[in-house]
Amino acid sequence: MTGSQLPKGYIRAMHYYSGLTLATFVAFHLFNHLMALGGLNRHIEVMHSFRIVYRNPVAESLLLLAVAVQVFSGLRLYARLKKNPMYGFAKLQIWSGLYLSFFFLFHVSAVLYGRTAQHLDTNIYYGIAGLNAFPYLLFFVPYYALAIMAFFAHIAAVHVQKMQRTIFGMPPRKQSVLIIIIGIAFTLTILYTFTNGFKGYTLPKAYKLKPISVIRLSHVKNTAL
Ligand code: HEM
Ligand code: HEM
Repeated sequence: MTGSQLPKGYIRAMHYYSGLTLATFVAFHLFNHLMALGGLNRHIEVMHSFRIVYRNPVAESLLLLAVAVQVFSGLRLYARLKKNPMYGFAKLQIWSGLYLSFFFLFHVSAVLYGRTAQHLDTNIYYGIAGLNAFPYLLFFVPYYALAIMAFFAHIAAVHVQKMQRTIFGMPPRKQSVLIIIIGIAFTLTILYTFTNGFKGYTLPKAYKLKPISVIRLSHVKNTAL
C-alpha cells in the first residue's frame, strides 16, 4: 500500500503517535538547551545524562524513525488539507508543520554529518557554531528561532483543536495564544544564552567555522591545482 492509498485515519494516527514520541524528545532537548543559562559546561553535563537514554542504537533508531514518520505523515496530511480554505490556527498548523519538515531534514542531517563525516562530538559547541560567527549567524539566527517557534506554534494549534476546558477563566484559544507567547519568550532566552548575551562565544578550534574569505581562497587554490 503506498502513502496515497493509506486511509486518512491511518495517517493521522501515525502522525499523532510518532508526534507524542518526538514531542517528548524535543521537550527534553529544549529543556537541555535552557540549562545553558548555567553555562555551556552545565549544558554538556545535562546532555551527557540525557544521552544515556537516547544515544543507543535502539532509542536513536526509534527517534530517527519518528522524525521520518512525522515528516512523511505531516506532508500527506498537508496534501489532503491544502485544497480547503484555512484560517487562524489551522493555517498556523500547516505553516509550522512545513517549516518543521524543512528544519528536521537539515538539522538531523547536520548532526549525522558532524558525527560520521567530521568525527565531531555533536555537543552544544557544534550546535551553536553558526550562531557565533559572522556572516553565518544571518542564516542561523532565523533558522533556529523559527524552528523553536514553529514547534510551540504547532503544539498550540493541536491544543486549540483538542482542548475543550476553560482553565483559570481562559478559553482554549487564549490558552493556545499563551503557548505561543511562551514559545517566543523561550526562543529569545535561548538566542540570548547561546550567543553569550549577544556578545558572542569563542568556541574551541575544532568547532569554529571558517571565515567566508578563507573558504573562497581555499576553493581558488583547489581549482587551480
Ligand atoms: C515535532 C514535530 C511534530 C509534532 C509533535 C506534531 C504533532 C501533531 C499532532 C499531535 C497533530 C494532531 C493530530 C490529530 O488531529 O490527531 C498534528 C496535526 C498536523 N500536523 Fe503535525 N506534528 C509535528 C510535525 C509536523 C510536520 C513536520 C508536518 C508537515 C507538514 C505536520 C503537519 C501537520 C498537519 C497538516 C496537521 C493537521 C492534521 C489534521 O487536522 O487532519 N506536523 N501534528
Ligand atoms: C537553538 C536551537 C537548537 C540547537 C542549537 C540544537 C542543537 C542540537 C544538537 C547539538 C544536537 C545533537 C545532540 C547530540 O549529539 O546528543 C541536536 C539533535 C537533535 N535536535 Fe536539535 N537543536 C536545536 C533545536 C531543535 C528543535 C527546535 C528541534 C525540533 C523541533 C530539534 C530536534 C532535534 C532532533 C530530533 C535531534 C536528534 C538527532 C539525533 O540525535 O539523531 N532541535 N540538536
